[in-house]
Amino acid sequence: MKKHIAVLPGDGVGPEIVTQARVILDAVSALFGHSFTYEEGLIGAAAIDETGDPYPQSTHDLCKKSDAILFGAIGDPRFDNDPSAKVRPEQGLLKMRKSLGLYANVRPIHTFASLLDASPLKREIVEGVDFVVVRELTGGIYFGEPRGRSDNRTRAFDTSVYTKEEILRVSRFAFELASKRRKKITVVDKANVLETSRLWRETIQEYAEQWKDIEVEYMFVDNASMQIIRRPSAFDVLLTENMFGDILTDEASVITGSIGMLPSASIGADTAIYEPIHGSYPQAAGKNTANPVGTILSVAMMLEYSFGLHREAAAVYRAVTRAIEDGHGTRDIRRDSPESTTEFGAAIARYIE
Ligand code: IPM
Ligand code: MG
Repeated sequence: MKKHIAVLPGDGVGPEIVTQARVILDAVSALFGHSFTYEEGLIGAAAIDETGDPYPQSTHDLCKKSDAILFGAIGDPRFDNDPSAKVRPEQGLLKMRKSLGLYANVRPIHTFASLLDASPLKREIVEGVDFVVVRELTGGIYFGEPRGRSDNRTRAFDTSVYTKEEILRVSRFAFELASKRRKKITVVDKANVLETSRLWRETIQEYAEQWKDIEVEYMFVDNASMQIIRRPSAFDVLLTENMFGDILTDEASVITGSIGMLPSASIGADTAIYEPIHGSYPQAAGKNTANPVGTILSVAMMLEYSFGLHREAAAVYRAVTRAIEDGHGTRDIRRDSPESTTEFGAAIARYIE
């Protein structure tokens, strides 16, 4: 199979981890006889520095013509501490998601048996955790209008907006996914307070009629944030709006012991994006210490979701699992003599070969 992949390393540790993901893709293509070609594009602070735009047209054109997008991370402390900055790296990621119509963000949370003690939670709580968060990605308070400041700049406002159709399309995705898993969906909202949440509930209650074999449960977001820590193994598919999903997935990442381990896929109308859920981790940039597994598992999701290469995806999951079982790992998951990003990536590639 021939595939062209847009590679957007971005900021911070992005370039280092994306390099390891490419090492894995190369190992997979060599073993299974595929041909993957890569083309790099600018995004985030790196793109602002070079072009003034965090998502330049040339990057958009590259994304449109590619079969999948491998993305590293975005964010730079130069902008974080400057609330008056007009152009911000994060705008690049939001613009990319929106202009490619990627409304379903899939974030699987599962623990590795050999890493249970890396979690700050008790072993019996994190054992066997295996759920997927489906986060709506192109609506809600991230994009709603109006947004801005009053004339004297002492009042600020953001607006959360959802249409029935936006709720339905991401729900279709989540129900399909649940039907292939343990057939349970938890819809997380704040329907006791927010009108948008009431539209979510109403829409999904009606839609769920078509899926009699799927158990649907509704949970308020404050309670959900507690249950994710109290009994994470009770979740199968968690479906929620944009901002709740952003917050809950950072929380859920703690279960696995390191946010560096978690992959994601953003799927919708156009070319899908595959990226680790962690950020740019600027303190570690250029130090060759970041965990590449989140990005490598994102590649596994790419093989599965965008290319339909199930055996190849399974080979990547297996290689990561075995490498960790045999004690390989960066310092976030391995305290004694940790490996560098490149050593860990090379070790995983050897398990594929
Ligand atoms: C994420 C990130 C982004 C988001 C930021 C970088 C804009 O936190 O992908 O979870 O809020 O969606
Ligand atoms: Mg986030």
